[in-house]
Amino acid sequence: MNPIVSLVVIILLGSVAYAGSKGAPWVPTWMRDMDRLKKLLALQPGQKFIELGCGNGRVCRYVAKDSKAHIEGIELSIVQWGIAVLQSLGRKNVKILFGNVFRKNLSEYDAVYLFLMPETYAKLQPKFEKELKPGTRVVSYVWPIPNWTPIKVDKEKGRPDLYLYIR
Ligand SMILES: C[S@@+](CC[C@H](N)C(=O)[O-])C[C@H]1O[C@@H](n2cnc3c(N)ncnc32)[C@H](O)[C@@H]1O
Repeated sequence: MNPIVSLVVIILLGSVAYAGSKGAPWVPTWMRDMDRLKKLLALQPGQKFIELGCGNGRVCRYVAKDSKAHIEGIELSIVQWGIAVLQSLGRKNVKILFGNVFRKNLSEYDAVYLFLMPETYAKLQPKFEKELKPGTRVVSYVWPIPNWTPIKVDKEKGRPDLYLYIR
């Protein structure tokens, strides 16, 4: 293989692995759970939402449909970030950022969604307590946020749970 192509492939695969080690590997939220998620977020016009570790951005695009809220996703893997950016082209209310969720200030958001590993939820919890403004809605997929009491656990048979918290 051409050495430049090999280098690019190594960088891209390294980026996927690095992001996986910093929060979670890429596994998407099931499409059939998107409506449940969107209902829990209950985004109002003008509100700001961020998805932490947005993968290919499909949650962002789904949430943005027929919404007047400002939707952002942040992603650390170059591969998923690039796909998310390309697939979100033309969506005026969707912005895909490149970066590490641990370095992103979260104080301006009204709603947050995360589907990461349980140990990452535990690491993010103090950051949430420090930065999120009162009233921010936080929705987590599959696992609860340690030491927080959800105001609602959305359960459906055979599907992952969704946890809603209000900061
Ligand atoms: C389980 S997947 C969820 C993808 C997407 N949120 C969804 O639900 O379809 C986790 C994503 O978070 C990204 N990720 C992991 N750690 C991260 C970090 N520290 N900062 C930003 N993104 C991260 C991974 O690259 C992966 O795409």
